[in-house]
Amino acid sequence: MDILVVGGGGREHAVIKALSQSPKIGKIYCAPGNGGISKLAECFPVKATDIDGMVELAEKLRPDYVFVTPDDPLVMGMVDRLNEKGFKTFGPRANAAILEGSKVFSKGLMKTYGIPTAAYETFTDADEAIAYVKQQNSYPAVIKCDGLALGKGVIIAQNEQEAVDAVNSMLIGGKFGKSGSEIVIEEFMTGPEVTVLAFTDGKTVKPMVSSMDHKRAYDNDEGLNTGGMGTIAPNPLYTNAYADECMEKIFMPTIKAMQAEGRPFKGCLYFGLMLTPNGAKVVEYNCRFGDPEAQVVLPLLKTDLVEIIEAIYEERLDKLEIEWYNGACACVVMASGGYPEKYATGKPISGFNADGQLDSGKAYVYHAGTKLEGDTFLTAGGRVLGVTATADTLKAALDKAYDAVSEISFENAHYRHDIGQRALKG
Ligand code: AMP
Ligand code: GLY
Repeated sequence: MDILVVGGGGREHAVIKALSQSPKIGKIYCAPGNGGISKLAECFPVKATDIDGMVELAEKLRPDYVFVTPDDPLVMGMVDRLNEKGFKTFGPRANAAILEGSKVFSKGLMKTYGIPTAAYETFTDADEAIAYVKQQNSYPAVIKCDGLALGKGVIIAQNEQEAVDAVNSMLIGGKFGKSGSEIVIEEFMTGPEVTVLAFTDGKTVKPMVSSMDHKRAYDNDEGLNTGGMGTIAPNPLYTNAYADECMEKIFMPTIKAMQAEGRPFKGCLYFGLMLTPNGAKVVEYNCRFGDPEAQVVLPLLKTDLVEIIEAIYEERLDKLEIEWYNGACACVVMASGGYPEKYATGKPISGFNADGQLDSGKAYVYHAGTKLEGDTFLTAGGRVLGVTATADTLKAALDKAYDAVSEISFENAHYRHDIGQRALKG
């Protein structure tokens, strides 16, 4: 089975590592890939958002499957185009990827089908939005732009002025372009966050091991929101009782709602949940694996990922039992100093062998933003590496991951020191 993976970050490296362990796998291709990925897959310099270019590449390589990993190409309809050309795929079509592509759509779906989420209103007019914020007079207020915004389209306004500024920046200032021409203003929820990724073929949903992301740039959840600075799995706060509640009130109702709307979702559906005092509620849906959630969830997957891809494509996920390893996994992201704002790239990374891994083998290093120049791995992005370890316990996995982090260095490397601490406290 030859597979072309679309994307080039740590998540794609995790997908490719899992694919490479399948007894069924043949060639693995990746576009655009990165330095670390190039050790497991043949990489091609086609951008993940270049639909024409990707179709052309698929026509040249003739893979058995194309695994479309990132949100943008999914929302733009890459899967639809590949299917039209006769390629089998992993990932939702555009009419289902809209679950992430439009918050106005996803909030509307949840309202219509009674899926628990924060109360909200939508606006295209700034005056009306501001009048609503003032009338609600409740802070923090949560203001979200409708479309994709690299995870930056959510503003938690602490007071009226911040809320007014947020509304104006989106609806008048055009801060997020078309993505922000409609906004959602919603109730602020409290409680720990949990990510649950789920395999679904549009009819059956099979949740994966739960995880916990750490979105803020600095220790103690300080600093700006990032794409994610580290993850652990499973998330100990997500008990079996929550798993049952979420299956009944959130996961299955979402799959059925999408089916009822004529938008069956096939692929990996990301449930961003908050465990509020009034039960679990949806913070957001994503139409893909999380990054860096995939890096801690996929190493715990015992079942062959290729078999899962086939079962989903052929809509027979109900017949496949998906098994997981016991134990825990932890991923510590090493980022370029300054991320998520301005940062430098092109810094040599030391500590690696020729594969971009550690000789000690303490951890597996998922490359997020690296490139290979000669024999040297250089930094090439904000998030550079996801240093990931598995062990019997979360504490042991964290110790191994941090031990491995201390063996790697590059100029101005930045990472959080408290990944998993909240989870350890329970
Ligand atoms: P999102 O991109 O929708 O996941 O939002 C980014 C982050 O903002 C989430 O992970 C939460 O930490 C926070 N957030 C989003 N919506 C809410 C809400 N309604 N109440 C509290 N926090 C929220
Ligand atoms: N780690 C959050 C995300 O992938 O959206």
